[in-house]
Parts: sequence; structure tokens; C-alpha cells
Amino acid sequence: MKSKASAPGKVILFGEHFVVYGVKAILCSINKRVTVTAEKINERKISINSKIGNIVLDPGKSISEINSPLKPFYYLANKVIKNQNTGIQINIDSEIPLGAGLGSSSACCVAGAAAIFRLFGEISKEEILKHAIEAEKTIFENTSGADCTVCTYGGIMEYDKKQGFKKIENEPNFHLVIVNSNIKHSTESMVSKVKQFEIENEEEFTKLCDQESKLVKDVLELLKENNTSKIGEKINQNQEYLEIIGISNNELRKMIKMGQKSSFGAKITGSGGGGCIFAITNKSNLDKTLKEFKNKNYDCFSVKIDFKGLNTF
Ligand code: MEV
Repeated sequence: MKSKASAPGKVILFGEHFVVYGVKAILCSINKRVTVTAEKINERKISINSKIGNIVLDPGKSISEINSPLKPFYYLANKVIKNQNTGIQINIDSEIPLGAGLGSSSACCVAGAAAIFRLFGEISKEEILKHAIEAEKTIFENTSGADCTVCTYGGIMEYDKKQGFKKIENEPNFHLVIVNSNIKHSTESMVSKVKQFEIENEEEFTKLCDQESKLVKDVLELLKENNTSKIGEKINQNQEYLEIIGISNNELRKMIKMGQKSSFGAKITGSGGGGCIFAITNKSNLDKTLKEFKNKNYDCFSVKIDFKGLNTF
């Protein structure tokens, strides 16, 4: 018996890092997916296959013994077969660039939780999300939960740690141009860096959180009007706050400057330090923006909002 699920990647439009401190963020899922297939096998093993490597392990191991980026899948499979006399084989297929701030790990956790748990019966999206966040915590303990939430429900949403998510009902028609710096980064270390900034600059950080909250509030109004050009200005403003908290660098700044020239606005998405930036466009400047980056040999592509979220087969 096989179970299959796919989940989209995501872009944080506003509020990364500040969301960890309780500020509201705005996120959307994108039309690039991870697909996970899970299958019961007779041998009592957990076998995980993906382009980034394969592992075959006995069940029952403590999660701290596992030194692999595939750890969340082991966590989920181990949990589900604890009282079952079976093994599990898991295959992962991804269209989302890895470790680039586009939610590949959250999409893996969501699609993984759905495929694995559905081998043993029906399960609600809410339960899948709960397991996915637990799985993500095996690699990044302090996650705000925002990424897994948008990968589960899809669309565009506001999210804060206390109240969870609220879907934004009108469907914006912007296109995002994603540009990958291909600079490796770790979400965990970038979140620690911001923590250090907060400790050393308490007053300034509180002020920035207030400014970010105000900005998000304004954007929620602009989204109702579908005002992409004004939203672009807010994106540039958000980037200024991200510069202050120290998650940018020269290469990212260079990319953002290019994006800001040809589109309505550009900023880092996700934890920064590397990974991706995005530029917000509509039909009038999408091709031009993509071309600018392609001409300079940047790794770039355009995405639209995915409105489906988690899909199970
Ligand atoms: C990472 O994609 C987003 C951060 O805000 C961390 C989090 O929300 O868990 C940097």
C-alpha cells in the first residue's frame, strides 16, 4: 500500500524574523512542490530516499543520534510505526531549491507527515500540521510555525505565533521573481544572530517590531486594493528593517538593488545570510525583471501563488 502527498514551498512576503518575536507576518505558498511517497515494507526498517542522499535505519533510535537533513522523515516514520509491526520506505521528489529560504524543509515536513500518517488511516490537516511542526523542530527548534502553516493551507495568509493563521481572501495577481544567491545559510544560526541583536539593542529592536507591525497592517489594506506598486514600496521598506537586524550581505544587497530597479520592490525572503531574494512584479515588468537577472547569469525563476496547499493522493 502506497500513500502520496505533495506540499508547496513558500515565500515570506513580510515579517520574517520579527514573527519569531510575535509580530504578524504575511506569507504565500508558491507553485513549486515537494512530493513524498510512503509505503509499508515487510522489513522493520525506515528507509528514506532523496536526491540529497539515502538512509536506512532501524526504528527506535533517539532523534539526537541521527545526523542527517532527512531527520524529520525519520522522526515521523518512527512515531507512526512505534506500535506497528511494519517498516516504511519513503521517497522524496522536490522542485524547490534546498536550503534557499523557499520552504523546502517545511514542505518536506508537511508532505512527509501527510504521506506517512495516511498509511495508517485518515488524518485532518490540523493534525498533519501539528506533526509537521514537531518534525521541523528536530532541525530547527525555535521555528515560529509560520512556514509549515502556509505549506499546509496554501494561498496567502497573515500569521502570528499566538493567533495562528488567517487566510487573506482576495487573490492578488502579482508574480514574484525569485533569485537564488546560492550562498548557503542556516536558519538556526540566522535566528540566533537576530537574537543577539535583540539582546544588545533592546530598545531599537522593540521599535523595529512596532514599525514592522505597522507596515504589515498597511500592507493588509493594500492587498485589498490589489495595489502591487504600493506593496512594492512596503517591500523595500521591510528590506531596510532586515538590513538593520543584520541578516543581509553585499551579494544580497547587489541582487536587491537590481530587483528594486526593474520591479516594484525587492527584499530577502526567509532567514537571510544567503538563500533567496524576491522581486514583486506584474505583467508589465515580469519579463524585464527576469531578463535583467538572467543576463547577469543569476539563478532565477518566476512563481505565482499556489492556492491549493497540501494535496494528498
Ligand atoms: C524562516 O523561513 C523564517 C524565520 O522567520 C524563522 C521562523 O519564522 O521560524 C527566520
